[in-house]
Amino acid sequence: MRKFLVTGGAGFIGSNLTLALQDRYPDARIVVLDDFRSGDFRNLRGFRGDFVAADVSRLDWNRQFGDRSFDTIYHEASITDTTVHDQFLQTHDNIEGFRRMLEFALVTHTPVVYASSAATYGICSGVQQEDQPPAPANVYAFTKVQLDNLARDYASRNPSWHIVGLRYFNVYGPNEAHKKAAASMIYQLYSQMKSGRRPKVFKMGEQKRDFVYVKDVVALTIQAANSPKSGIYNCGSGRAFSFNEAIAAINRALGTQLEPDYIENPYDFYQPHTEADMGRARVELGHVPEFSPESGIADYVRWLESNRA
Ligand SMILES: NC(=O)c1ccc[n+]([C@@H]2O[C@H](COP(=O)([O-])OP(=O)(O)OC[C@H]3O[C@@H](n4cnc5c(N)ncnc54)[C@H](O)[C@@H]3O)[C@@H](O)[C@H]2O)c1
Repeated sequence: MRKFLVTGGAGFIGSNLTLALQDRYPDARIVVLDDFRSGDFRNLRGFRGDFVAADVSRLDWNRQFGDRSFDTIYHEASITDTTVHDQFLQTHDNIEGFRRMLEFALVTHTPVVYASSAATYGICSGVQQEDQPPAPANVYAFTKVQLDNLARDYASRNPSWHIVGLRYFNVYGPNEAHKKAAASMIYQLYSQMKSGRRPKVFKMGEQKRDFVYVKDVVALTIQAANSPKSGIYNCGSGRAFSFNEAIAAINRALGTQLEPDYIENPYDFYQPHTEADMGRARVELGHVPEFSPESGIADYVRWLESNRA
């Protein structure tokens, strides 16, 4: 029987991952661990496994799990609100939580797949490649750079152990409403348009993002557990899609014709373009995203229309 642990499993990506693992391996024993600082139990509707309410950075992992082993640990737990600027809290909870999990997994060399972020690239523009130097622009991004450093260090000292980091880009999809202001731009635009308002974007809406559908993120996260080696991979759609294009796609999906409401950008600098180079994930993990931004948004809007209260 397969055994999986998903930290942060009550959150957006973690709950999609948990429910996908349950679908794919109906006999698996799945444990979700979360402290609900941003997650919501409603995301786990239909979950048949075990739940541990705990903070990854304070948990005594050996005491909690004893000699239980897992086939894979998926580590999604993290403070995800990038506007939390308490540097000790962000670094303690994100980095020490990761370190404790790694120390637990080290004993049995349990494969680990963890959530890194495109935020490690900082406010650069253009196509982002895994080997470019990190440039964290906030403390959240700094913690993700540290996760990558730790992962490389543990992996180099333990060559037969597989630790895979995925740098998620701008993820959107079902089960993200609990994130409120931190939910994706796609969700924010949909919410405005659904209530009949013109969608607000900074002038002139031509900023581009690599919006990646959560179903593709889950597919790569599950696939990464079978990686033949440790590594860090981008996880995006591989396409840069402008806010204007996103609005057009939501209009098509909703059957509306709402014009963008262009507002002044209050920031000195606003990232003009993010785009994941997906070459390494394709060549080394065999991953090709299934959803284009257009088809992902159409699928998501269908879900929102039939599931939103
Ligand atoms: N959504 C995105 O676009 C995106 C982009 C890049 C990286 N990521 C990363 O993906 C992962 C999942 O993010 P998400 O979008 O699902 O956000 P989310 O906030 O919905 O999920 C994070 C989950 O982790 C839990 N958590 C946080 N700190 C914890 C701790 N110390 N102990 C136990 N549980 C804890 C929260 O309660 C929540 O359920 C995170 O690591 C995040 O940094 C997400």
